[in-house]
Amino acid sequence: RHLLASSAAAAGAAGLGWGGRSLVEQSAASTLPDGQQIVPFHGSHQAGITTPPQAHATFVALDLQPGLDRSLIIGLLKAWTQDAARLAEGRPGLADSEPELAAAPSRLTTTIGLGPAVFEVAGVADQRPPSIAPLPPLPIDDLDPRYSGGDLLLQVCSDDPLVVAHAVRILARSVRSLATVRWTQRGFREARGSHPEGHTMRNLMGQIDGTNNPKPQDPGFEQALWHDDPAYPWLRGGTSMVVRRIAMDLDTWDELGRRDRELSIGRTLGTGAPLTGTREHDPPDFGATDRFGIPIIPPSSHIARARAQAPEEVFLRRGYNYDDPPEPGRTSNSGLIFATFQADIAKQFLPVQQRIAEFDVLNEWTTPVGSAVFAIPPGCEPGDYLGRALLE
Ligand code: HEM
Repeated sequence: RHLLASSAAAAGAAGLGWGGRSLVEQSAASTLPDGQQIVPFHGSHQAGITTPPQAHATFVALDLQPGLDRSLIIGLLKAWTQDAARLAEGRPGLADSEPELAAAPSRLTTTIGLGPAVFEVAGVADQRPPSIAPLPPLPIDDLDPRYSGGDLLLQVCSDDPLVVAHAVRILARSVRSLATVRWTQRGFREARGSHPEGHTMRNLMGQIDGTNNPKPQDPGFEQALWHDDPAYPWLRGGTSMVVRRIAMDLDTWDELGRRDRELSIGRTLGTGAPLTGTREHDPPDFGATDRFGIPIIPPSSHIARARAQAPEEVFLRRGYNYDDPPEPGRTSNSGLIFATFQADIAKQFLPVQQRIAEFDVLNEWTTPVGSAVFAIPPGCEPGDYLGRALLE
């Protein structure tokens, strides 16, 4: 097993799999250790969006140094594209002083985003879709600048936290004369292999979280996800991303009985089934009432408030749990790094977010403390770089 892994790593460093087959093909055969599994970097969309979520993620927002121009931003995106592609394949970054840390990428993906200021700095302000801007103020927000805003985003995900740490280091270091780290948020899901593939994750409130996410086979999935507005042709095949850090008050949540917790979401904790069903994916019946005429799924519950009320209110949630050291006097500092992808934030995400901000019983135990918005350029082919259609 050891020999198997090390020869695979050596082949990976050369960019080849065993027997001349690509590592992707070999991964499909699943004869290799999980560390050798590769998610292709190149393609029409960036990786790390529809990729089944890896166990670990680090989100890094960076700010451009003052005085940059378009050519320097192009240089930065070229450097990131090259390194991100190499690291995804298990090859070291171009100036990698720890190349061994790249050898088992474990489905590593790097997703690169552009914050609102990039468009100004690059002199292409008219190419910024209007919703690539901070979200309008929301009454539930208690935003901390330590987790908000940013000119550039790196979303680095892998099933191995060591690989994530190394990739983040390579990518942040390679552009340090051009951009400085503004915030970093580390998140995790259940360990890979602890549940069958396709299992929906649990969050730190104990809920099954992600059940009614759009699926690639759903009609309208492509339109919901990928930008196709002729006014912004550079973004065709790209998308937009909202990253919200949402703190959970687990101390007061713990005081709630199990039934009340279930009523607050509208789903059971055991199976994730709606309160009107028995299995996780049973469709909820919001019209069903008990013998007193009281709705079984409370209209104030999270799923009743968050559920799409118009066909366009659909977006992909791809969040991660966080569990950081508690502030003095507290027992936990936990929550969700709530990340969504959608073609258009204003049409798809914002109506839902505003409805939740107006009222949602879950707000009693959750507080958004960070918020940032990014355009996610389409993917690229080998030899090209991310964002070229915007900048050239
Ligand atoms: C559904 C948890 C914040 C949008 C759910 C579900 C849970 C959950 C357990 C039910 C299972 C599922 O379908 O995924 C949470 C927690 C949050 C949070 C713990 C904060 C810490 C948000 C926010 C939004 C949102 C801020 C949007 C702005 C949705 C949507 C659904 C959903 C669209 C699916 C509703 C449906 O169609 O049934 N969430 N959520 N959630 N949540 Fe959240």
